[in-house]
Formats: sequence, C-alpha cells, structure tokens
Amino acid sequence: MGKSHAQAHIMMVAFPMQGHVIPLLELAQVLATHGIRTTFVNTDMVHDRVVNSLAGESLVGFVSVPDGLEPHERYVPGKLTEAVYTILPGKVQALIREINDGEDRHIKVSCLVYDQSIGSLHQVARDTGIRSVAFLPAAAALLVLGLHIPQLLRDGIIDDQVAGNPLDSSPLQLAPTMPIVNPTHFVWHTVRNTTLQKLILDVMRQNNHSINSADWVICNSARDLEPGASTLAPQITFVGPLLASNRLADSAGQFYQHDKDSLEWLDQQPPSSVIYVSFGSYAILGPAQFQKLALGLELTNRPFLWVVRPDAMPEVGKPEFPNGFLERTKSQGRIVGWANQQKVLSHPSVACFVSHCGWNSTLESVSNGVPMLCWPCYADQFINQSYICDIWRVGLQLGRDNGVIFPFDEIKEKIDRVVGDEELKGRALQLKEVMGHGAREGGTSYQNLKNFITWLHE
Ligand code: UDX
Repeated sequence: MGKSHAQAHIMMVAFPMQGHVIPLLELAQVLATHGIRTTFVNTDMVHDRVVNSLAGESLVGFVSVPDGLEPHERYVPGKLTEAVYTILPGKVQALIREINDGEDRHIKVSCLVYDQSIGSLHQVARDTGIRSVAFLPAAAALLVLGLHIPQLLRDGIIDDQVAGNPLDSSPLQLAPTMPIVNPTHFVWHTVRNTTLQKLILDVMRQNNHSINSADWVICNSARDLEPGASTLAPQITFVGPLLASNRLADSAGQFYQHDKDSLEWLDQQPPSSVIYVSFGSYAILGPAQFQKLALGLELTNRPFLWVVRPDAMPEVGKPEFPNGFLERTKSQGRIVGWANQQKVLSHPSVACFVSHCGWNSTLESVSNGVPMLCWPCYADQFINQSYICDIWRVGLQLGRDNGVIFPFDEIKEKIDRVVGDEELKGRALQLKEVMGHGAREGGTSYQNLKNFITWLHE
C-alpha cells in the first residue's frame, strides 16, 4: 500500500450517468482544492460534456476511455451498464499501470476512488497495489439494502430463480428511521426488464465484497439524515451533501447547457410561489402522463418552472404538450430543457419541488428546505420517497404504484397540499438547518471529509 507520496494522486471513476458524475466530480473539486492531484476518468460518451461544463481552468485532470459500445447500443436497456461492468475495469487498470510504471515517481496513482456500483474496481486497486475507496452517490439505505440481499433470499422475501422477484408484498423496514419499502419497489425490480433486473441484483450482491473490503466507503449523504443506515452499515463514512454551494461555486459536470434566464424569471415571481418540476437526467413519463402533468400544473394557477428535457419523450420524438397549453400558460410558467437546479432550489421564490426523487435532487431539495411532491420512477427513487414522506416528513407522495397514470386533478390537489402545509414546510426548514450544520465546520460530514483528506495525504 502506497505511503508517504510526494503528492497524493487519486484516480476517480464515476458511472457515466449524470446523477453519478455530478457528486463524484464535486468531491474531486473539493479534494483538488486541498492539494490532492485528481485524475477523473470519463467514458468517451460523456467526456466532452463533462469537460465543457467546467468554467475556465480546472484543478481536476480528465482522461477518457472507450466504453466499447457503438453509439446506438448505448440506448439499449442494460447495454451501458453491462459495458461499464465488463470493459471499464480493464481500461482503468491499464491507465493506472501506464502511470505507475512510468518514469515520474511523483505522479504515481496512490488511490482509486470509484463509484460503488462498479465494485470490481476494488480488485483493480488491489491488483495494482493502491488504496481502494468506494463512493456511494446514493442514500446509504441503498447500500444497506444490498448488504441485506442474502437475508432477503433466506427469509423468502425475494426469489433466487427469477432474479429477486418479490415473494412477499409486505412493506419492509430494516430498522427504525430506515425507509419503508415494498419489495415490488426494490431497486432491481423497478427496471421492468428481466435481463437488466438480474444484472443489477448480481452486481449488488457482488459489490457487497468491495463494501466490506474497501479502505473507505464514503457516501454523499449525512449521518443525521440516515441514522438507521449508519448503524446498520458502520463501514460508511458520511461526507454529504456534496453541493457546489458549500464551495461557493457553480455546479460542475452537467451534461446539458442550462437555461440562462430561469433565475431572472424566478426573481420576478413572488416569494414561495413557484412549483419547480424536474425528473432528473434519465426518467421519462409516457405521453399520456406527460399531458396530465401539464394540465395539472395549469390548473394550479401557480407559476411553474418545468424542466422538459429534449429527450423526455422518446416514444414520440419531441415532447407533446396538450392542445393550446403553451399558449395558455405562457405568462404562468416557464419550460426549459435543463435548469441550473442547485441554484433554482436555493431561490426564495420556489415553494415546492415536484421530483422523481433521484438522490441528488432529494439532497438538493432538503438542503434548501424545499418541500417535495414525490413522483418516483425507478431504481432507488422509491427508497428516497419513503425517506421524504415517511421518515423526514418533508414531502407528500403522489401515489405508491408505478405504472398508474395520475389524473391531472390529483396532481393539482397534491401540489396545493404541499404548498399549503405549514407543518411540512416547518420540518423542511428544520432539516435544512440540520444539513447545514453537518456540512459546516464542526459538523459530522465536514469532519469526516477532513479526516478522509488527511488520510489521502498520508
Ligand atoms: C440517477 C438516479 O435517479 C438517482 O436516484 C441516483 O442516486 C443517481 O443517479 P438522476 O435520475 O439523474 O440520477 O437524478 P438525480 O440523482 O436527482 O441527479 C440529477 C442531477 O442533475 C442533480 O444534481 C440535478 O441538480 C441535476 N439537474 C437535473 C440539473 O442540474 N438540471 C436539471 O434540469 C435537472
């Protein structure tokens, strides 16, 4: 194991999806400002977009490796995931060897920080004789669920034949303050594609090895948010939320250009009035549901800022709004392809976040004291919804079932309830305080990050 390097040099590998790149790059920026040399590995697919997202000079270095896929294959469900697991580890190993077998001993890579979902990178670190750090961009509760897969199988809650299909539909809570999850919403079971489901279940089981053997497992979450998960998985070090605002900087690593005028538009709206709507970087609504959401927003008669990605409706090409909707709502709402979300959520005009409950969106909302209307679509988003609605009680859920089309009047009614619920708002503001405290000097996440940086320098 490398000790006493002239300068610590770490290699960081994200899963090449938006929600994974943003928090790991945020960590890279923090480490770089503490004198740690960081080399951030992208796949070719996202490399240019990540590098272009950085304004001016970056302290973080970037390299890109091929993912072995043809462009059209990247959109076939499961193909990217499969490529990341099978091809990326070999590429990263070659990169480390190339650097560490080179002439300049001062730039040798001493540590690999990798997305926890690519657990085989732990072995790459071990094989190349460097330190191994798993990074979890999601809730610690997700990792706890992964660690409990053997028990879920033993207890007959999921089967081993059809890749973890639920055998029992009773909601499960692994400990008090842990999310309450129906087995039909276990991460692997939300993808509705048996091959991918099997792949995810297998990978989560295999990753338990790296979780139990890595030198550090660091999580973009706060211990105060997840005390139950912290007890069940004591190997996790909480360092979150990793937000650009903590560095007084702009969020980096965005794959898309954000709308430049949203903040100015928000400035013109009354305080606590705007409904912000975003489904993250990947989730999509079917055309019928999309139209119901549009009509629900219109019916609220409240100002709204709605992120509709250009790829939000792949079945029909471009997004299709209800007849006359754009004309009728042009002074009520603003529709953008991508927003500077971290800034939007910190704007005083925002009253409610209608969200798919991706973990980054959840953290960003909670850190700004914005109550949420939860609309989870897949993966860990149901776990996050339960935290928001059942445990922290800073949001309401639209419904428990995926696959159901929510009517527009229900969407309007739930938005009104979130905006009008003073207790919800009060709890959201309290949680914001707790989060702020943890990330500031003297707080748990702050101290944990400091300890981690000290260790990297050793
Ligand atoms: C995915 C999963 O959904 C999430 O649960 C997992 O933990 C990480 O990967 P994604 O679906 O994209 O991510 O959602 P989310 O985790 O919320 O990340 C989206 C990121 O993009 C956030 O940091 C958000 O601020 C940013 N974003 C989104 C923008 O900056 N602008 C937008 O318009 C939309």
